[in-house]
Amino acid sequence: MRKALRARVKFAGSVVCAAPVLLFALTACLPEGGYDKVTHREKRELPPPDFPPPPRVIAGVGQTAASARVVATNLPAGVTQEMVDEGQQAYGTTCTACHGANGIGTPVAPALNDNQWINISGQYPEIVQVITNGVPNPKEHSGAMPPRGGGNFSDEQIRALAAYVYALSHQGGGA
Ligand code: HEC
Repeated sequence: MRKALRARVKFAGSVVCAAPVLLFALTACLPEGGYDKVTHREKRELPPPDFPPPPRVIAGVGQTAASARVVATNLPAGVTQEMVDEGQQAYGTTCTACHGANGIGTPVAPALNDNQWINISGQYPEIVQVITNGVPNPKEHSGAMPPRGGGNFSDEQIRALAAYVYALSHQGGGA
């Protein structure tokens, strides 16, 4: 009885082992038409994934949840909230690479969201000046800031950028 069982198991085993060989032999013997099924399967294309299209990217808008609109509280004369808004958008295209989102600073450029200044005292005309000229010889960082931050900004956009930097850095109403 045991012997018979073992023999059966052995037989089953050899059938399993032989199966791929048998299959191969079978496929090899199939006539040309035997591949029809495969061709048919290849034709069945998967439907395109049902992902929503990516959102349209508007430079500087909605980069992160944290980049909420900066609402200025104490702008100097001649500087408007509209300029701050425009500056915030322009900031996201170029300046953010070095000064970080929302001006939090990075290892290559200082924070612009506090009242600590390196090259200027933080007055609006100085900010306009430093953005226009860049910082060819940084005091605390190894790489220079190019004029206009390396961006193709008009004077009006520079004033808007400065308005945004001013609003960022004067949030608390301090210097
Ligand atoms: C390539 C990197 C880089 C880019 C891009 C860049 N900056 Fe700068 N920025 C610097 C560096 C470096 C300094 C000088 C830091 C120092 O003196 O140690 C600086 C300084 C400044 C300062 C003066 C800060 C201070 O405390 O003296 C302001 C304001 C400023 N940048 C605004 C901007 C604005 C706005 C843009 C975009 C138009 C911009 N930067 C783009 C690297 C950059």
